[in-house]
Amino acid sequence: MMQGAAPRQRREPVTVTVTGAAGQIGYALLPRIASGAMFGPDTPVRLRLLEIPAAVRVAEGVVLELEDCAFPLLAGADVFDDAAQAFSGANYAILVGARPRQAGMERADLLAANAGIFAPQGEAINEHAAQDVRVLVVGNPANTNALIAQAHAPDVPERRFTALTRLDHNRALAQIARRTGAGTDEITGLTIWGNHSSTQFPDVSQVRFAAGVQADIAALQDRQWLEDEFIPRVAKRGTEIIDVRGASSAASAAGAVVDHIHDWALGTPAGEWTSVGLLSHGEYGVPEGVFSSFPAISRAGDWQIVPDLELEDWARARIDASTDELVAERDAVRALGLV
Ligand code: NAD
Ligand code: LMR
Repeated sequence: MMQGAAPRQRREPVTVTVTGAAGQIGYALLPRIASGAMFGPDTPVRLRLLEIPAAVRVAEGVVLELEDCAFPLLAGADVFDDAAQAFSGANYAILVGARPRQAGMERADLLAANAGIFAPQGEAINEHAAQDVRVLVVGNPANTNALIAQAHAPDVPERRFTALTRLDHNRALAQIARRTGAGTDEITGLTIWGNHSSTQFPDVSQVRFAAGVQADIAALQDRQWLEDEFIPRVAKRGTEIIDVRGASSAASAAGAVVDHIHDWALGTPAGEWTSVGLLSHGEYGVPEGVFSSFPAISRAGDWQIVPDLELEDWARARIDASTDELVAERDAVRALGLV
């Protein structure tokens, strides 16, 4: 008989709950989680997938495909239409499933419709997830949905709730790379501030390039390019994708989810930070009690906001405009008695 390679030493499986598993992002995300891209090559993953009853069969079809990928790290994948079961034992909860905006729907209607999803899911996480659960909210409006979920999970430390702004961060990195000629992995010090919406502020004022990089670094001093091209391009990229692709971003959103959880679980690289939607306690003058994007590092599984960065007046004004929008969203859900 042929002698195979020695079995790898593997850790205990991580349990990951993903909601909206039958959707577009789910389809792009689940194979990447199961492949090891999120937690590395030695950590098996158990998937628990939540869908609405009408989409359970589709999610089951995705599970059949995951099986056919023969991922060595996939320790199981189950589909549920019940949040208590889906979040049971979850170490990570990725909340993707959300109600999309439909014709004639006002922002307040969208907030109310999504509150009906994120409030009960917050409660289910509080009751049924693992002690160390970490939550990422992707479904829009992501920042305020994160606030609703967090408000319904009083036993989970609040810094374990995050909203996805890594996609905006990655979009900005790509635009800087295009403009300067540097590689995306040669650029550090970028921050997305505020809301995951067109009011966000992608801030290049602290951007640094790797030593010896051949790049047009001065391009980032071009205020006209920043204000007229870079900022609107990044902030409205979601709309551009919808216009060109005919559907909202999915592969890039899934990539950003993988990056966010990877860095949360394994730490941000030394000397670097990324952008994360975190509950504000007034850092950088952001009003307390909203989930705003901040510069953050991850150490030992905890996000910490990078302190003491200088902000110019025009940057301050842009951050204020975005956080005003977050306050308005918070007030709208507060008026509904949700936070
Ligand atoms: P999609 O419509 O393809 O899939 C959404 C899925 O969620 C559907 O299968 C639906 O059945 C499911 N769902 C709805 N309510 C649910 C519930 N209560 N529990 C579990 N599942 C439920 O949408 P998509 O393209 O996958 O996008 C999902 C969300 O992510 C949208 O809100 C989108 O706007 C948002 N998004 C956010 C970012 C970001 O950077 N934060 C980026 C891209 C997309
Ligand atoms: C995105 O940024 O691609 C998503 O949030 C979709 C959208 O509506 O912009």
